[in-house]
Amino acid sequence: TTNREPIGVIGTGYVGLVTAAGFAELGNDVYCIDIDEAKIEGLKQGKMPIWEPGLSELVERHRSRLHFSTDLADALEHARLLFVAVGTPPTYSGDADLSAVHAVVESMPASDHHALVMKSTVPVGTGETIQRAFAEQAKGFRYVSCPEFLKEGSAIKDFLEPDRVVVGDEGDWAGDAVVELYAPLDAPLVRTDIKSAEMVKLASNAFLATKISFINEIANVCEETGADVVEVARGMGLDNRIGPKFLQAGIGFGGSCFPKDVTALKQLAGNSGYHFQLLNSVIEVNELQKRRVIAKLEKHLGRLVDKQIALLGLAFKPNTDDMREASSLVLSSRLQAAGAHVRAYDPVAEGEARKLIRGVRFAESAADAVDGADAVVLVTEWPEFAELDLAALAGAMRGDLLVDGRNLYDPAAVRAAGLVYEGIGRGGNS
Ligand code: UDX
Repeated sequence: TTNREPIGVIGTGYVGLVTAAGFAELGNDVYCIDIDEAKIEGLKQGKMPIWEPGLSELVERHRSRLHFSTDLADALEHARLLFVAVGTPPTYSGDADLSAVHAVVESMPASDHHALVMKSTVPVGTGETIQRAFAEQAKGFRYVSCPEFLKEGSAIKDFLEPDRVVVGDEGDWAGDAVVELYAPLDAPLVRTDIKSAEMVKLASNAFLATKISFINEIANVCEETGADVVEVARGMGLDNRIGPKFLQAGIGFGGSCFPKDVTALKQLAGNSGYHFQLLNSVIEVNELQKRRVIAKLEKHLGRLVDKQIALLGLAFKPNTDDMREASSLVLSSRLQAAGAHVRAYDPVAEGEARKLIRGVRFAESAADAVDGADAVVLVTEWPEFAELDLAALAGAMRGDLLVDGRNLYDPAAVRAAGLVYEGIGRGGNS
């Protein structure tokens, strides 16, 4: 780690912090800037604003290389590459809200030895707009697109062992410097133009979301025809053109990226005059998939008024406390609208869930959640739920229905415990 270049990271949210800690691990000094004073104060004391396995340990280990500040000047003084990792949430229309990105651009002084490196997910053409702004204001800044592909829950590993690094630039010093920064990771490099780099990110997420909605529709047909989607996915996945990943049928995708990015790409296409038919369906299938659980419950329990329903897991996936676009949000509100009493347990996300879900009773443990329940719905496949003692669960319930929203359990084992099993797309087994 000789002569590692100091960098700046603007925005200490999920992507910014993981990127900062990752580069610190590679030996870079990192100047982390955020406008949120409380967040920066907390970070100085080692308090993480998000829950991500391994992150606080990494930040702790590289305390001396990580510099937290609310003053952009600190980063400008020490670094020539300023990574931008601010939020780009969806607006009402589904277009990405770029106000935070533009605020960062506006705050830059004139300089011919600095570059903005865009990590935030932005629509194709954003780089061009920013370059035009820099040119009009004679700021001299260079611009590089360097999208992130971090998965929550394994973000540190994804940073240190990426499938690929994508760098979009104009073949200038800034692009060279970003390539150099990532060189120690020894990952396949895609160096390309800015617009193509921007599109790689959106297209990758849209494709993965398409894979999920596709297998969810196959699951729904399996339910009608008696096939088991778990077996079907196993058979499909061995074709290496298809691959085994992202073929798990369930109650839909959530999170801060897929729903937002699929919608953003659909909007981007629409704004440029192209109607992206496939993505409309990907989104619609996902919305319907979250609601199918209600029908499954009603099939066995009839009307849900005054029924006790236990939800196991609330986070949009395991190993995160992230509740953004989680299927549990739709599920819990549909259940309450139908008059059911909902008791929920999540090993980590309860705090986040309390901010978003009203009228649900939060349980201390899985055992506490299922006590007296008419039905249990497995919502998030946390590892600890795979280990549940199904016989004890059956004994504690008032009813006997287990809806396995992530096909986590072996249907035969569930039945052996005296429960009725309903999975997603498990044909004869549902
Ligand atoms: C995703 C992308 O994977 C990542 O590259 C990008 O940078 C950000 O968005 P993340 O949001 O952390 O990462 O979640 P991911 O692990 O990809 O899962 C997304 C959702 O899809 C989850 O709700 C998960 O439950 C669901 N999913 C995933 C399925 O329903 N079936 C599958 O087979 C895989």
